[in-house]
Amino acid sequence: MRLSRYFLPVLKETPAEAQIVSHRLMLRAGMLRQEAAGIYAWLPLGFRVLRKIEQIVREEMDRAGAVELLMPTLQLADLWRESGRYEDYGAEMLRITDRHERELLYGPTNEEMITEIFRAYVRSYKALPKNLYHIQWKFRDEQRPRFGVMRGREFLMKDAYSFDLDETGAKAAYNRMFVAYLRCFKRMGLSAIPMKAESGPIGGELSHEFIVLAQTGESGVFLDRRILDLPIPGEDVDYDGDLEPVVTAWTSRFYAATEDVHDAARFAETPEGERVTARGIEVGQTFFFGDKYSKPMKAVVSGPDGVERPVQMGSYGVGISRLLGAIIEASHDEAGIIWPDAVAPFGVGIISLRPGDALVDAACESAYAALTSAGLEPLYDETDERPGGKFAAMDLIGLPWQLIIGPRGLAEGNVELKRRASGERRSLPLDQALAAITG
Ligand SMILES: Nc1ncnc2c1ncn2[C@@H]1O[C@H](COP(=O)(O)OP(=O)(O)O)[C@@H](O)[C@H]1O
Ligand SMILES: [Mg+2]
Repeated sequence: MRLSRYFLPVLKETPAEAQIVSHRLMLRAGMLRQEAAGIYAWLPLGFRVLRKIEQIVREEMDRAGAVELLMPTLQLADLWRESGRYEDYGAEMLRITDRHERELLYGPTNEEMITEIFRAYVRSYKALPKNLYHIQWKFRDEQRPRFGVMRGREFLMKDAYSFDLDETGAKAAYNRMFVAYLRCFKRMGLSAIPMKAESGPIGGELSHEFIVLAQTGESGVFLDRRILDLPIPGEDVDYDGDLEPVVTAWTSRFYAATEDVHDAARFAETPEGERVTARGIEVGQTFFFGDKYSKPMKAVVSGPDGVERPVQMGSYGVGISRLLGAIIEASHDEAGIIWPDAVAPFGVGIISLRPGDALVDAACESAYAALTSAGLEPLYDETDERPGGKFAAMDLIGLPWQLIIGPRGLAEGNVELKRRASGERRSLPLDQALAAITG
């Protein structure tokens, strides 16, 4: 992408309304624009990162055997009356009436709708297990939308739903999602810790929140430091195998709990030097809730014995839009964002120090072509802005690499290569710089 053709409205001033660093940086880096309280337009740079995060989640869901579909944002109120949640959900639900006086709502979650879809087609245990997911906008009329994408009213969520014949199957489905979550967050450069949680309005028996530690987090958390060193399964993890040992290692070896379910007496059993009291951001949550929806909504399957029973369900959410904020909270410095490679909006920024100079233009163009064909998605700053402004903007938007090309360096046969995360700068010939980036 050539910067002159792009749409990157970076702000020089720090917006006064933003209270936490990720919100400030997203506004300054031209990623986001507030259109109403808790409702945002995703500007091109922010949208690119949103898509990258979404894609990582999608790949890990698919790997774990989940199947993607897409449900609508609007749902019929009558569907929610079947589960009893239409009245229970309260003021957080945005209720809408159409021209035929039919009651609708903007979905805050999709347990009812997926149960309705499932029961329309599946009657036998032979079709099980199944896990269906979508990545769709949700609306929750939060009392206090704040911190930008962290607590929005409209936000993007991945929500998956598992269906099994019995509890044993449902627990195996839960374990697959649990492991997929560990992998997702790690790929994004985050350390997210599963913590025992209350299941809230979704209801149910078994639940974990996946929490990224950050001072600005909304939840108080208590943990044994050693949980941070537990291994995470690799790409070759066998989702058909027994994942119970992995889940047990993460859930019962070391203490980790949010304040809602914190047990001070049990925490005291952790050696004092390993005890951490911190704050965290909830980036995902897993629930097993059995027949909470399938029973009232009559989603039944017949088992091998021919007897019909309500299907055993779980649901699994990831806050895709919230993750942008969580990643920035975990990875930034005074100059701006530091994107982990896997979610960076562009892989490398090319800065031309003298657009119009034939040698500089030729070197920049050849770098641009080489990096594009290597799949690095370069952002090429060929504008007339002064070098100081270009450097500041490039640091602010936080691309992993900067390739700085000017007449003085080229006269000696060199360009400059900067790694954003470490700040390390090297002068070297262009072909070596390209090899370092693509290598
Ligand atoms: N208002 C919101 N803004 C942004 N992300 C949200 C919001 N509410 C929930 N999420 C994200 O969606 C995920 C799944 O939501 P869920 O656990 O059902 O919500 P909650 O924790 O609010 O009960 C959460 O872990 C969080 O990452
Ligand atoms: Mg939650």
